[in-house]
Amino acid sequence: MKRQLHLNLFMHSRGHHEASWRHPDSSPLPLTDIRYYQDLAQRAEAALFDSIFLADQLALGGDVAQAPRTWLEPITVLAALAVSTSRVGLIATASTTYTEPFNLARQFASIDHISNGRAAWNIVTSWLATAAENYGGAGQVSHADRYTRGEEFMEVVKALWDSWATDAVVDNRASGIYARRERIRPINHRGDFYTVGGPLNMPRCPQGRPVLVQAGSSDTGRRFAARHAEAVFTAHMAKATAQEFYADLKRLAAEEGRAPEHVLILPGLSPMIAPTEAEAQRMVREVNELTDPEVGRKRLSGRFGGHDFSHLPLDRPLTPQDFPDPDTVEAARSRTEVILNLVRRDKPTLRQLLGYLAGARGHFVTAGTPEQIADLIEDWFTDGAADGFNIMPPLLPAQLEVFSAEVIPILQRRGLFRTEYQGTTLREHYGLPLPASVFDDPSWVPELMEAVAGV
Ligand SMILES: Cc1cc2nc3c(=O)[nH]c(=O)nc-3n(C[C@H](O)[C@H](O)[C@H](O)COP(=O)(O)O)c2cc1C
Repeated sequence: MKRQLHLNLFMHSRGHHEASWRHPDSSPLPLTDIRYYQDLAQRAEAALFDSIFLADQLALGGDVAQAPRTWLEPITVLAALAVSTSRVGLIATASTTYTEPFNLARQFASIDHISNGRAAWNIVTSWLATAAENYGGAGQVSHADRYTRGEEFMEVVKALWDSWATDAVVDNRASGIYARRERIRPINHRGDFYTVGGPLNMPRCPQGRPVLVQAGSSDTGRRFAARHAEAVFTAHMAKATAQEFYADLKRLAAEEGRAPEHVLILPGLSPMIAPTEAEAQRMVREVNELTDPEVGRKRLSGRFGGHDFSHLPLDRPLTPQDFPDPDTVEAARSRTEVILNLVRRDKPTLRQLLGYLAGARGHFVTAGTPEQIADLIEDWFTDGAADGFNIMPPLLPAQLEVFSAEVIPILQRRGLFRTEYQGTTLREHYGLPLPASVFDDPSWVPELMEAVAGV
């Protein structure tokens, strides 16, 4: 079958532009109203998107006075979306640093059961320094330690999701046999960070385990993705860096013995679309005028682990010396590199840099006609920069509607995107296999678990 695009809708605030929440074209619904997210998910499904995605942060942003920095807990939102959609994949973010693996395994396996096989987990180590204050207050865990802990976390949750065989449940009322105990196994994990006996207390989920998504692009992040991720979100401001990332990650995945086509790479793309390029540019200027540089300055500081940029004038060209060395940043390391690459390349003033980041926080921002956006997508897709895109409409739902009604039909006419869903699960949409199971391994010897008194 001809290689086709994978499109994910990144739901965020009232759009990805920093000032989207103030724009008349964005949704009037409160950001705590579940109908807002159900409506977006249903629009994405109607447009045949592979999946929708919810990000998450574990602390309130310091600029809440000027910007809606609130987050409904994403896994809880997925449960509501699972019952108001039937085909679109459902991706939520959760942290390996601030979550218990047994809880997380239960939550995502439950969403996979509730959605009949559409759950996915965006694995984050939580770069936001202030999150640590809500989880024991012992200060931010270092970049390296977050990933080390994340590795053990993955080992535990993968074993928990594989603690029931597909055929463990019998559910035979006549014989009184509910399950075959020899097809359920404890995991008996004893590690540096976790001690987890298992098994999980629910049958194997439809996809075997949720689809694993990740979005770290540092060297450590890339190796983590190469070992665990089935879809990778990434931020690039230029096609060339996206091509380098794509080739490198596919190489690293192959080194891990994985099929490169089972590690999908989806760069972020935030298009402002209008009938003419001039009109699209005018719309960008209009929403940019609603931004507050002091909001952008606070966000930039957060990206650099709290570094103080308050002394920098807004209208003097920036140099790399105005920024801390990314290797010393314990926060989102790769994103700081993306920003510094832009400073080296374009020597923007702080006002210009903040204006660019206001668009989509370091992801690729563009403005043009539907034809121009389709051309850009086809170019990156056919030239080794992407397997699809994390679509980040600057204004929601208005620019999602334009993308769905104007750009997707062009991609379909070019044979680049589906014209109907072929399958029902997210693994089928992404073309991913079911995960292997220890129960299928002929050398595996059943370990009977201790009889546990039920509730
Ligand atoms: C599309 C995308 C979505 C992300 N969503 C989240 C999120 O919801 N929560 C979070 O803490 N980090 C999120 N991140 C940040 C990554 O998980 C990661 O911390 C960041 O890319 C830096 O990784 P690195 O230090 O390995 O370079 C996201 C990154 C991207 C590109």
